Amino acid sequence: MTINKHNLSHLPLGDHKTAPWYGKDIISVKQFDREALEYIFAVSHEMHDMVDHIGTFDLLKGKILANLFYEPSTRTSSSFTAAMERLGGSVIPINEVKYSSVSKGESLADTVRTLECYADVIVLRHPEVGSAAIAAKAAHKPVINAGDGIGEHPTQALLDAFTIREEIGHLDGLTVTLLGDLKHGRTVHSLARLLSLYKVKINYVSPDILRMPPELIDELKQKGIEQTEYFTLDECLPQTDVLYVTRVQKERFADEATYESVKGAYVIDPTVMKAAKERMIVMHPLPRVGEISTEFDNDPRAAYFRQMEYGLYVRMALLAMVLGKA
Ligand code: NCD
Repeated sequence: MTINKHNLSHLPLGDHKTAPWYGKDIISVKQFDREALEYIFAVSHEMHDMVDHIGTFDLLKGKILANLFYEPSTRTSSSFTAAMERLGGSVIPINEVKYSSVSKGESLADTVRTLECYADVIVLRHPEVGSAAIAAKAAHKPVINAGDGIGEHPTQALLDAFTIREEIGHLDGLTVTLLGDLKHGRTVHSLARLLSLYKVKINYVSPDILRMPPELIDELKQKGIEQTEYFTLDECLPQTDVLYVTRVQKERFADEATYESVKGAYVIDPTVMKAAKERMIVMHPLPRVGEISTEFDNDPRAAYFRQMEYGLYVRMALLAMVLGKA
């Protein structure tokens, strides 16, 4: 019998038991509980130490990652590449699907079945909600969701939670304010769900047409999370421990005029931030297109560049886990 992720449970007791994430897909943050997060944080922390001390090491020597991106990416794609290479593995990069057989009409399932012949793990970004789940069903090797349309972006949420943990020390008891395009932003969808594992208070600040989907607010309400919606930031900024800023997702709008009407809704700059706590952090998944003024970049509370670096360690941890080495 060929062993793959669909029949792992048929394996005799042993190896896979000691590596609970071995062979698993990472599709949604719903797969994680607090214990899993503690484990990921610990492994990510260790990866940080290893990179600081020895830079590159051979944990995943000989392993190959297929990086399949149907949508633009700078950080997610390059941090997965760096993560794999820092662990001694290598990468098949497919960034411009127009140069691959997808442009000939190949289905996602067939593309994934092809890539898994050559790679041990597939990282996928795709414009459609649910695409990562479809790919995971077709593939026998682990698939990691790097963003499925406006759906989820689980690895970003994990690195966001790790950032909060490293910068503030804990998640319980925090007031987190999510600001910007909460309707289309997959990072805030995943992050809000992940935060609901902790005792947090969540504020949503957005223009009316870009509010957090009501189903998601309901989902968190069921879990007892205190949530409040605002149209302006000034009311909730002074209590905020983590301000998570997002870009208005131009590519998700049906017409340009609607985008133009909301694009500059909020701008974080040193003047606005005078009302915030001295000890808090400002995060952003990036790219930014004017929501945070560069004049704020040197403020110690500006955590968005450090956040990108934490992403490398979290992605190293996730690759090591699904490939059975953590
Ligand atoms: C985000 C994304 O792709 O959802 N970027 C990222 O992965 N860091 C956020 C965005 O594009 O606005």
